[in-house]
Amino acid sequence: MDICKDVECVRAFVNIRKQQSKTIGFVPTMGYLHEGHMSLVKASKSMCDITVVSIFVNPKQFGPKEDYSKYPRNLERDLKLLEEAKVDMVFIPDVDTIYPEGFSTTINIGPLANVLEGAFRPGHFDGVCTVVTKLFNIVKPNKAFFGEKDYQQLKIIQKLVKDLNLDIEIVPIPTKREEDGLAMSSRNTYLNEEQRERANTIYKFLLKAKEAFENGIKDTDKIIEYAKAVLDVDVVYYIKIVDKETLEEKTAPSKYDRILIAVKIEDTRLIDNIEI
Ligand code: PAJ
Repeated sequence: MDICKDVECVRAFVNIRKQQSKTIGFVPTMGYLHEGHMSLVKASKSMCDITVVSIFVNPKQFGPKEDYSKYPRNLERDLKLLEEAKVDMVFIPDVDTIYPEGFSTTINIGPLANVLEGAFRPGHFDGVCTVVTKLFNIVKPNKAFFGEKDYQQLKIIQKLVKDLNLDIEIVPIPTKREEDGLAMSSRNTYLNEEQRERANTIYKFLLKAKEAFENGIKDTDKIIEYAKAVLDVDVVYYIKIVDKETLEEKTAPSKYDRILIAVKIEDTRLIDNIEI
């Protein structure tokens, strides 16, 4: 497995493979890898000749009061997992490599970035879009893999690619869950035993809402009211049922709409979503 720390190294690696007509699959991550990340890697391995993974905790997508400095990191363990998965190359740039002195460009994709997560985390998706655009331009992949766990991020990246005519296919990958249903996330490590137990009520809530819809309740408020009894969290930032493409809010949902939730348990912010 090759490891690159700078852009020239990545370009040299990728250019050789492109000359050999190999297809490049790319999995951008912030590290502290779990089975969710690894399912993206597996998908890339099965669909592409070469798989590149990036590990970069992107400061531009964290708000001033968010967890950038305490975001979990374990590079040694990550590299071991990627080596075992037979990843071809890992890109681990420093902050200065991605944002050298004088860097000033921001990618803002418009209204989609201001709703749901964007409404609570101003600038978050600008940070995501800016870093992902840079990573795409550095790695030049044929396909890039994104998890449905971060559903709004997935839709935003698809729009970014469409709006800017980037020649990259975005491949969505279903959410990997723990046995009790909690969506895998690097942030789950913040939870103590009692908080971890409560965190599994997020998925229980989503399933209950889906059940309500399937049982004929067709009003969003009533669906949420019915399901909320199972939810044991400290703060609910939002619960919304939205169109799966436009993310427009639905008061009367229909099949294939998506229910999204963001909550806080003690100091830990968690998100999840499923198709209703
Ligand atoms: P990170 O949170 O590390 O996630 C990297 C990728 O793994 C994302 O596409 C995310 O949706 C996916 N993922 C996370 N948990 C998952 C799960 N339980 N099942 C399936 N996929 C899962 O998302 C980011 O990093 C960053 O915003 C990034 C895109 C790398 C830009 O900095």
